[in-house]
Amino acid sequence: MPLTSPRNMFDRALKEGFAVGAFNVNNMEIIQGILQAGAEEDAPVILQVSAGARKYAGQNYIVRLVEAGLMESDLPVVLHLDHGADFEICRDCVDGGFTSVMIDGSHLPFEENIALTRRVVDYAHERGVWVEAELGRLAGVEEDVHAEHSVYTDPDQAVEFVRRSGCDSLAVAIGTSHGAYKFKGEAKLDFDRLKTIGDLLPGYPLVLHGASSVPQEFVRACNEYGGHVAGAAGVPEDLLRKAASMAVCKINIDTDIRLAITASIRKALAEHPEEFDPRAYLKPAREAVRNMVRHKMRAVLGCSGKA
Ligand code: G3H
Ligand code: 13P
Ligand code: ZN
Repeated sequence: MPLTSPRNMFDRALKEGFAVGAFNVNNMEIIQGILQAGAEEDAPVILQVSAGARKYAGQNYIVRLVEAGLMESDLPVVLHLDHGADFEICRDCVDGGFTSVMIDGSHLPFEENIALTRRVVDYAHERGVWVEAELGRLAGVEEDVHAEHSVYTDPDQAVEFVRRSGCDSLAVAIGTSHGAYKFKGEAKLDFDRLKTIGDLLPGYPLVLHGASSVPQEFVRACNEYGGHVAGAAGVPEDLLRKAASMAVCKINIDTDIRLAITASIRKALAEHPEEFDPRAYLKPAREAVRNMVRHKMRAVLGCSGKA
């Protein structure tokens, strides 16, 4: 099945109260693990590629790996650019076969964010490509995405932003953050704000970034087998489930993939110190991705059986 647009997935997600998982991909094993999970759960899948992933693997490699995966699958799969920083990267991904791009102007003043998003929307829509934008800022630090403090999305601004920019979906800031250290104390999301935004934009798909739940069994395994991952905490699964039942249609997960892989590889290498065939530890790592993603689809996103 060829790559698809998120449109049908999100329409159904809104109506039926689930969310589609958007998983960051960087190499073959991650793509295979996610697509296997999607096939086993009969779930729609969004594979997303960051600027860092493009730099690491090369856009052509990533696109061809995804295409190879699709040759063996009839799942609906979206190929999405995650956190596009400027018009040019969005254009390159639209031209390179992505079916969805994110333009992230969330660090810009409101009017500049609208203008940049509008420019990407005009280019992408002419070519049938979906555009996600972001309003409000998440805390946390990642490559090219830095924010010391969250600035939650203002509901009235969200309405104006969507109307004037023409973006197809909107990432909102309601208390999540990128990476493995999301909450020092109690984990809280601003569901009142999410509800208000959803009510003001009926039928409109919202996106939740920074939505890894940082499973403690991965953190423990990393630490048990020689790692040092101290104080990591994610978004509790029940909060994600609640967001998925509201207007959130796309939930972004990267950190949990990193943790699943690293925990698995650390364990394999510690238990078999004589081993130096990469397949011996990449195979269980791919399985760890698959199992983690299956669990998300079934127990958190609610998208099993919705392909
Ligand atoms: O939110 C973005 C992802 O976690 C991407 O991270 O830029 O290190 O690939 P990355
Ligand atoms: P996590 O760091 O919580 O996995 O978030 C990933 C993300 O938002 C990618 O855009
Ligand atoms: Zn993000």
